[in-house]
Amino acid sequence: GKDSAADYVEVDDLEKVPQAEQKKWEKDQMASAVFKFGAKDAVKKDEYELLLEDQIQFIQALQIPGIKDEKKEPELTESQKKKLSIEETKKSLPVFPFKDDLIQAVREHQILIIEGETGSGKTTQIPQYLHEAGFTKDNKKIGCTQPRRVAAMSVAARVAQEMGVKLGNEVGYAIRFEDCTSERTVIKYMTDGTLHSEFLSEPDLASYSVMIIDEAHERTLHTDILFGLVKDIARFRPDLKLLISSATLDVAKFSEFFDDAPMFQIPGRRFPVDIYYTKAPEADYVDACVVSVLQIHVTQALGDILVFLTGQDEIETCQELLQDRLRRLGSKVKELLILPVYANLPSDMQAKIFEPTPPGARKVVLATNIAETSLTIDNIIYVIDPGFAKQNHFNSRTGMESLMVVPISKASANQRAGRAGRVAAGKCFRLYTAWSYKHELEDNTIPEIQRINLGNAVLMLKALGINDLVHFDFLDPPPHETLVLALEQLYALGALNHHGELTKLGRRMAEFPVDPMMAKMLLASEKYKCAEEVVSICAMLSVNGAIFYRPKDKIIHADTARKNFNHPGGDHLSLLNVYNQWRDSDYSTQWCYENFIQYRSMKRARDVREQIVGLMQRVEIEMVSNPSETVDIRKAITAGYFYHIARLSKGGSYKTVKHNQTVTIHPNSSLFEELPRWVLYHELVFTTKEFMRQIVEIESKWLLEVAPHYYKQKELEDSTNKKMPKTVGRSTRTD
Ligand code: CDP
Ligand code: MG
Repeated sequence: GKDSAADYVEVDDLEKVPQAEQKKWEKDQMASAVFKFGAKDAVKKDEYELLLEDQIQFIQALQIPGIKDEKKEPELTESQKKKLSIEETKKSLPVFPFKDDLIQAVREHQILIIEGETGSGKTTQIPQYLHEAGFTKDNKKIGCTQPRRVAAMSVAARVAQEMGVKLGNEVGYAIRFEDCTSERTVIKYMTDGTLHSEFLSEPDLASYSVMIIDEAHERTLHTDILFGLVKDIARFRPDLKLLISSATLDVAKFSEFFDDAPMFQIPGRRFPVDIYYTKAPEADYVDACVVSVLQIHVTQALGDILVFLTGQDEIETCQELLQDRLRRLGSKVKELLILPVYANLPSDMQAKIFEPTPPGARKVVLATNIAETSLTIDNIIYVIDPGFAKQNHFNSRTGMESLMVVPISKASANQRAGRAGRVAAGKCFRLYTAWSYKHELEDNTIPEIQRINLGNAVLMLKALGINDLVHFDFLDPPPHETLVLALEQLYALGALNHHGELTKLGRRMAEFPVDPMMAKMLLASEKYKCAEEVVSICAMLSVNGAIFYRPKDKIIHADTARKNFNHPGGDHLSLLNVYNQWRDSDYSTQWCYENFIQYRSMKRARDVREQIVGLMQRVEIEMVSNPSETVDIRKAITAGYFYHIARLSKGGSYKTVKHNQTVTIHPNSSLFEELPRWVLYHELVFTTKEFMRQIVEIESKWLLEVAPHYYKQKELEDSTNKKMPKTVGRSTRTD
């Protein structure tokens, strides 16, 4: 859009700007930028100078006249000049000179806190060093947790390659619904959530000699709980070595928590990064990213660009816009390779981001937060940071959890900027004002444990026999209300009894590495005799990635194809239709293509489904099918998700039953135009308002059937009825 580009000179106009004119603009821009900064944003002069001291250059960087043309090529680093062999690359990493010291330190101390700049080689090298030093003798493994799935997979692949072994043999990974390890595995990467599940079957982690809790600074819920669990285990397993590894952020806190464990610092190598801010806030940051990428590409010396976006949708939009504009520019500009990175990226695409950029070309990586610290992409010189990330937020007052795009913290912004200075001096373009950075961003990101629903974590801890959660050893304790709410929810689901102890149902629920609501829905399928269908629905809901494919030039066809799958009962049943028809086509690729369905997502749904079927067998639920009884299928769903109920209110919006919050059906839903009286939603997504995504129509009386202790008849009376005299109300009902 024109809106966000208003403050820019469009790339297309670039060639029309005469040299002298450009010089003049450059001067004016500098002057007006400084002026604006001083006056409009009311920052005092000494503060401004302080900022300057901090090496923050306040110029209107994104306006072409303000930024110098720097076509001369940057000094190449050793690794860029020639393609280094694997051995040479390993030796070039900052951690390498400390190899012996590190091994020594691990031998001497049971717990060690490791701190080092992102990209120093902590994740890929340390497990290899310890393996070489003999820590994997006697059939013991080295484990290393990662908060992100993509990181676990890609790091394992890299290490397997470095060691010259096949992925899944000596080096493997395990993520939810996927285990790529074998008897021979000695180095195992896994998500922090997966290690949680392992605790259930191996509470003392007996098969491990070393456990590395990596990316500790990310402070995910699972990582935070692992801190407490491994600290406890270390006491009665003196032979287990614990490494807590973190990027350069507040590591003293970790040391303190682990009884003043020694800190091992890997000195970083970091080149200076110049930071540029926009003069005014950007209305449309995706568009601003596109413009900025092109401006860098046209005016700046070669070097790859990293753009931080919030999710797959945004990345795809940005990619399309970029491709479109590049096409229009044609051969006027050098080659620009566009590479996306996000959680659900298929593994063949993952490898591509690590391939070196061909000579003369430039690479732009469009990434989510994953590239902030979890994944290091070499040779990034420019970073574009719109300042947002997607986060889960739980409101303990309303009991609603929702995914929303929020401003990042200063700590995050600085990590992002740091990505530009790993191989040479770099530049970071922040698509927000210096004032906002200074005054609006929080210092640190709030740890997940303090802002999300704890149902899953509490169920897991209860299953491990940890009953007193209030006194559990938390690095930062969760808010009391959130803990209480989680206990209440588990009680309502039947997972806990009124003493707060795990019930038989709760024990079965804990077998599933999913949200307690989904676990309950799976178990309820036994009663409603529709396990086959419910398992398929769970698999489809767990895919995350887009199921439907909607290419720009075929929107009408794609939407028609999608409508053909619509089930009047709602989205869960529409998804079931998609899965069943795909299965009937014998899992055909061609079928997906013809029906505008993403084959990759379906393939993943099939894998996930297989895993869930395995777990269903473990809890001894028979896989029976009942395809025509969609009422029973919906009752099973309701048995799990009775917390997520909303009823139609005025103007086509909905109100949640328990807390009377306003929510709306997502336009992508098959029920968008139907407006059923009662709906159950799978999740809430906050963009412009709270949207319910994936909904089914239900009948209010089912709630009394599946959750009699949670709902009372009175709450479920229809408000439209309540206002009218009883007799009239009854006769005017149309349904
Ligand atoms: O964990 P830390 O951030 O300290 O560094 P790392 O992830 O071990 O990365 C060390 C080096 O390995 C970097 O230069 C990465 O680019 C490289 N690497 C890679 O080439 N392919 C991967 N899948 C992961 C890392
Ligand atoms: Mg790492």
